Amino acid sequence: MATGNGIPSSLLDKLREVAKQFFALPAEEKHKYSRAANKVEGYGQDGVVSEKQIFDWSSRLSLKVFPEDQRRLNFWPENPSDFIDVLHEYVVKLKGVMDILFKAMEKSLNLVEGSFSSQFGDNSLMKARFNFYPPCSRPDMVLGVKAHSDRSGITVLLQDDEVGGLQIFKDDKWINVPVIPHALVVNLGDQMQIMSNGIFKSPLHRVLTNTDKLRISVATFNTPEPDKEIGPVEQLIDEKRPRLYRNVKNFAAFDYECLQKGKVALEEAKI
Ligand code: OGA
Ligand code: NI
Repeated sequence: MATGNGIPSSLLDKLREVAKQFFALPAEEKHKYSRAANKVEGYGQDGVVSEKQIFDWSSRLSLKVFPEDQRRLNFWPENPSDFIDVLHEYVVKLKGVMDILFKAMEKSLNLVEGSFSSQFGDNSLMKARFNFYPPCSRPDMVLGVKAHSDRSGITVLLQDDEVGGLQIFKDDKWINVPVIPHALVVNLGDQMQIMSNGIFKSPLHRVLTNTDKLRISVATFNTPEPDKEIGPVEQLIDEKRPRLYRNVKNFAAFDYECLQKGKVALEEAKI
């Protein structure tokens, strides 16, 4: 949890507010931003990956926010009218937070500065995903998001300020992540696990549904440039800790292929 993260609380509140206002729009209005089949960007529910798939109890709005020149503004809501400015302001500040996180992670392992950040590249991808979890009559039967690990490098999550539901799998148990209104949840993804040669873990997490309250969260995923090959940092490989993973390019595409075959990308990347 990062509190005192340098992003004004008022901005975090505003981001939650515009998200709520967007979700409250009539369906026709939201569908102006609908995702195309087999595309990830835009508004909608789970994409269909396989026939046996179990769907999540949530709707999402996914937007690529960096590199800035790759934004597809036709998916960015014009209603509420300050949505775009608020999101822009948030992600610019968040980029600064991510840079601090890289330095802290490098320092914590006594690595040369840039060991991780250089693998992300100067044009790393950042995607924002607004998650909307409506009340659900059978929370015992349905999850908001199934257990998964993030395929990103780093994920920063702004949770709902009232409604919990996020759980993380640790020591063989599901543990509730507490709701702290102005804290950001930092979660490392699969690509960080690879780069750190397995030292940093990409944990399984899931979201529970509840019967009476809408829950909103904003997840921002930072991912290395797709053409850049990522792999364990040399300094983290030695006789005691041999190289666990091979180098991979475009991990997102690799992960998607694995998913379709019912395989787990992190396992497939193992040596
Ligand atoms: C995700 C995710 C958690 C949440 O979007 O990958 O895990 O609390 N979200 O919405
Ligand atoms: Ni996640």
